[in-house]
Formats: sequence, C-alpha cells, structure tokens
Amino acid sequence: MRVLGIETSCDETAVCLIEADGAFGADFKYKVLGNGLLSQAALHAQYGGVFPNLAKREHAKNLVPLLHKALEEAGALQPNTEAAAGAALVPLKAILEREPELFALIVPFLLKFQKPDIDAIAVTAGPGLEPALWVGINFAKALSAVWGIPLVAVNHMEGHIILPMMHICPEQHTNVLQNVSASGSLSVFDFPVLALLISGGHTELVLSKQFGMYQLVGETRDDAAGEAFDKVARLMELGYPGGPLISALAAEAREENIKGDFSFTRPMLHDGTFDFSFSGLKTAVRNIVTKREMTGELKKQVAREFEECVADVLVAKTLRAVEEHDARTVVVGGGVSANTYIRERLAETLEKADASAELLTPPPELATDNALMIALAGYFHALKEDFADPAGLAAKGNLRL
Ligand code: KG4
Ligand code: ZN
Repeated sequence: MRVLGIETSCDETAVCLIEADGAFGADFKYKVLGNGLLSQAALHAQYGGVFPNLAKREHAKNLVPLLHKALEEAGALQPNTEAAAGAALVPLKAILEREPELFALIVPFLLKFQKPDIDAIAVTAGPGLEPALWVGINFAKALSAVWGIPLVAVNHMEGHIILPMMHICPEQHTNVLQNVSASGSLSVFDFPVLALLISGGHTELVLSKQFGMYQLVGETRDDAAGEAFDKVARLMELGYPGGPLISALAAEAREENIKGDFSFTRPMLHDGTFDFSFSGLKTAVRNIVTKREMTGELKKQVAREFEECVADVLVAKTLRAVEEHDARTVVVGGGVSANTYIRERLAETLEKADASAELLTPPPELATDNALMIALAGYFHALKEDFADPAGLAAKGNLRL
C-alpha cells in the first residue's frame, strides 16, 4: 500500500510517500519513495518561538512544491493528458475557500499532473497549532477529493511513538531531513511499551499495552520540556529553537568542567506522581539573568545545570513508570528526544535498573517533526480501513491519544 503523509502541526512543512506492507509485527516492511521537508525555524527565530499565522502562510506556500519533490523522487509524476481534467477541480473552490494561496498553487499542479499511484492520504489532525493544522488538512482534503483517494486522520503524538519503533536502513543517512531515502521494518520489542514524549508542545508518559491502545500515565502541568529549552534559550538570548543551542553549550560546559555555584530545584521529583512541571526552571534562570552579567562562561553553567535538571526529572519519572507498569520497552519521541545527553542518561539508567526495559530512540534527524512518522502511523490505520470522513475532518489543537 502506498501512503502519502502530510505534516503541518507546527513549524515543519513535510510530505512523505511510503510503500508499506504487512500488519504491525514481524512481517511489516516499508520503503520511503519520496520525501520533502522544510523547517521554518529560522523564520520564527526573530519571534523567539513559533508564530502561528506565519507558520500557516509558510505551510500554504511550501506544501505544493514539497509534494512535487516527493512525487518526483518517487517517480510518480506523470503529465496529465486528459482534456477533461479541469472538471475534477470544481470541488477545490469550496475546500480551499480559506486557503487562497494554496489554491493558486495547487490548481496548476493538479492540471499538469495525473493522479499518482497512492492508496491513502494521511494527515496530522492534531495536536498542534490550529491555523497550521488546517492548511495541511485542507490540502489533504483537496488531494483526496480530486484524486478520489481515502483520507486518514493521524494523531501527531502517535507518529512520535511509532517512529522510534522502526528499524531504519541505512542507519547512517546523511541530510535525512532534505531527503529521506530509507527502508525498514519494525524493531523487535515487547509490550507493554512506555513512551516518553518530549516535544515543544508536549511532555507525556504514555503506556501502550498493545499497538494502537494508549493510556496517559503522566504529563506536564505547565510548560513542555521543549518549551522550557526554548524559553531558557530566549532568556539567555541564544536564539530559536533553544534545544540544540542549550544542549551544545551544556556539552561544552561538561567538556571544560565548568560548573556554576548554583543549583536548580528538580521540580516534582519526589512528589509520587508521573507529572512534570518545567515553568519554575524558567523562573530560576530568569533570576540569574536579571542579577548577573551573562558572560559566555555563565551561559554554559546555566545551560549545563538546566539540561541536567530536566534530564534528572525525565529519567527518574520514566524509570518509576517502567517499574510501576512493568514496561518492557521505553520509546522516546518528540523533538527533545534528539538531545544526546538525555538519551545517554536514559540509556545508562535503564541499563543499571533492576527492571529490564529496552530503549528505542529515533534517529536524531527524525526526532523532530517529519511526514514519515505520519505516513507510517497512517498506514496502520488505513490497513484497518480506519478512514476519515472528509466533511467531518477538522483540526484539533488539543487532540489526545
Ligand atoms: O517534536 P518537535 O519537532 O515539534 C513539536 O511537536 O513540538 O519538537 C520541537 C522541540 C523544540 O522545543 C526544540 O527546542 C526541541 O524540540 N529540541 C531539542 C533538541 N532538538 C530539538 N531539545 C533539546 N535538545 C535538543 N537537541
Ligand atoms: Zn512533534
């Protein structure tokens, strides 16, 4: 089955075409046929975070060129020879009523090329920024209507859970965000799976006793882990996104053995719940920033203490949840799972722990948002014919698993 994945929930615009076969298990195989991804991070950097209307505009501008790229890589672009092609475009006016820019780009594309060989179109329905989600959803609805291909609504977080479960070949691919050309299968692991989802919008521990069934075990009560990285980076005027910048400074601090004369309280570490709180850390950093001169050295000290503090809490709560729920596998997903230090700490801790759980992490380039994860999650829904009714498909900013 060929599935086209579309992702626009935040500041990455992404389109990915995969070919997949088999049910969730040892027989499952997939191949990436074409991929397009554009990050808007540099554009949002001036605002110190994602600006929803700018994200929406950029998605509208980039979706058609990225689809073109992905289909071209897949060898799925055939010139349109049918004289009557224009008639098929009539429903587009209503579907793209609120997306004039997308409408202007998609019409010439659809007139120029034939319907490609695709069996399902999977699109992120939530959670995320609603104006951004809507562009992807309307784009998917437009393609579905014109080409007569069924739609699948995907929960973005399920994508972040599924991707680390995949074995990806080749393991060392370069520039994977520009051009994923990979194939793979499902890694061998056991349920129950505990997923630690750490992104710009979410920090959650989710238990999955069987594929497709999810139970929320704990979540942040205020800021998400990635949001904390971004806000602390902004306080120190480092730039956006903050995660990789803080992480690089913290690594330098550890390497140069630079440690501050301060320490941050590990929020909710011993409170007995599986919930998190990161907004106090931002305040702790603000206290330093307002009282002291932020030298390069002090920034490194703050970055190190902040990263260690976040890691301490994430690792301790994950381990406790593993023990409590007898999890056999820990999956880490979401943008913050690209963080090397957090990965290492988790790996070390799980290795030493009495509970024996295996750790599955995504390739760092695929930890942040992409459309491969949406196509993969969409495939398993399409296999069950779990299709969405286009009329009822709406963006859900707070969609839960
Ligand atoms: O999953 P993602 O791409 O988008 C959302 O769904 O939110 O996650 C983006 C978040 C940002 O907050 C970014 O700062 C963080 O992931 N991030 C990192 C790293 N790389 C990205 N945080 C810590 N360390 C990193 N290396
Ligand atoms: Zn994400």
